[in-house]
Amino acid sequence: MATTARVRPALRRTLRSLEQLLGGFGTALLALGLLVWAVTLGWFTAATTLGLVHGLADRERARLGRWGVEVAAPGVRPVRLGEALRDPATRSELAWLARHAVAGNVVGFLAVLAPFSAARDLTFPLWWWTLPDGWASPSLGFWVVREWSGVPGVVLLGACWASATVLLAPVAARRQLRVARRLLGQDPGDLTMRVAELTRTRAAALDAHAAELRRIERSLHDGAQNRIVATTVLIGAARRSLTTTGPAATDQLLGQAQDAAELALAELRAVVRTILPPVLADRGLAGALQGLAAASPVPCTTTVDVPVRSAASVEATIYFVVAEALTNVARHSGAERAHVDVRLRAADDGSEVVEAVVRDDGAGGAREGVGTGLSGIRHRVEAMDGRWSLTSPPGGPTELRAVVPCGS
Ligand SMILES: Nc1ncnc2c1ncn2[C@@H]1O[C@H](COP(=O)(O)OP(=O)(O)OP(=O)(O)O)[C@@H](O)[C@H]1O
Ligand SMILES: [Mg+2]
Repeated sequence: MATTARVRPALRRTLRSLEQLLGGFGTALLALGLLVWAVTLGWFTAATTLGLVHGLADRERARLGRWGVEVAAPGVRPVRLGEALRDPATRSELAWLARHAVAGNVVGFLAVLAPFSAARDLTFPLWWWTLPDGWASPSLGFWVVREWSGVPGVVLLGACWASATVLLAPVAARRQLRVARRLLGQDPGDLTMRVAELTRTRAAALDAHAAELRRIERSLHDGAQNRIVATTVLIGAARRSLTTTGPAATDQLLGQAQDAAELALAELRAVVRTILPPVLADRGLAGALQGLAAASPVPCTTTVDVPVRSAASVEATIYFVVAEALTNVARHSGAERAHVDVRLRAADDGSEVVEAVVRDDGAGGAREGVGTGLSGIRHRVEAMDGRWSLTSPPGGPTELRAVVPCGS
């Protein structure tokens, strides 16, 4: 009874491990095919190849999930070769691909061979004598059995295969899971970095928020508030003038008060417009961006493919990024034309992002840190947990790309 109690769990563990290794054999065969493609023709179709690598890695993550190992996929993943080769998560996926293409196939093949050979050799006494003379041999055809005296050796070999299966399959399965978790998941170090990054961008968002409040407060204080103070002073003077200097002076003072009130209104409108451009609410993102392009001194075309309305904060971020980028094109680039491309697309982890790209054919050489515009773009985008990049070699062209998650 005690032996049965020990054997059953061992058998169950072995069967589970074999099932897992056979599943891994499937993805390992795909990994091998993809690896051969990647090192031969994949260079010419880098974006497709990277998409396939991400897809296969996600498939492996889903498979591991079924074995109780939750492996979180990284967030937004680059699709351009240069960025991808610098991206630690993509580099780990490529390392997993190479490793799984070799190790996954070897252990997958052994996971088929070992139990099959064990079953064949252990049952050898039952059927070897039915074969024609010279045909009976143990698995892998090590030697030929002609007499019953040769049979125990084959059964012993079968027992070795069975023991190896029971002992080694769980070890191999565990190791496969560990390697995949390390290479495909975000290890604790990555998560620590992610938390640090989120803390930093949260602090940046709060800073930006506080700076924005200060700016609004200054604008209200220096503009509208002063005009309203002037209005009340002028109205007070007008009331007093009724009893002292007469209606002509009162009329003049009231006229000045009206001018001051109108100026206060204009100031208020200007401040409100900088908080959330009303054009976004009126015309939507596409209309607002077309308005920016039409107002640009450098001829600018737009492609906007965002079929649904995004959160106001996302639309405002994209709007301000494109507005600053087009201002820079007009001020610094000397370009003959510019193009704005904004689209909704799926990130590699399946979530939706809005991607804005502003290109110009100007002189290039844009650098963050010279003024406040480009660093403002970085802060705005990072505060939304997005990504931005700037490519602007001397001689041009310049391309500014911002990717903002829709869920934020
Ligand atoms: N599209 C572009 N083409 C060429 N150079 C550019 C372009 N965009 C920016 N630059 C260069 O990069 C620098 C930094 O741009 P940034 O927007 O950060 O500051 P700025 O435009 O000079 O000042 P601010 O935006 O604070 O008013 C610019 O001074 C300019 O030299
Ligand atoms: Mg600028």
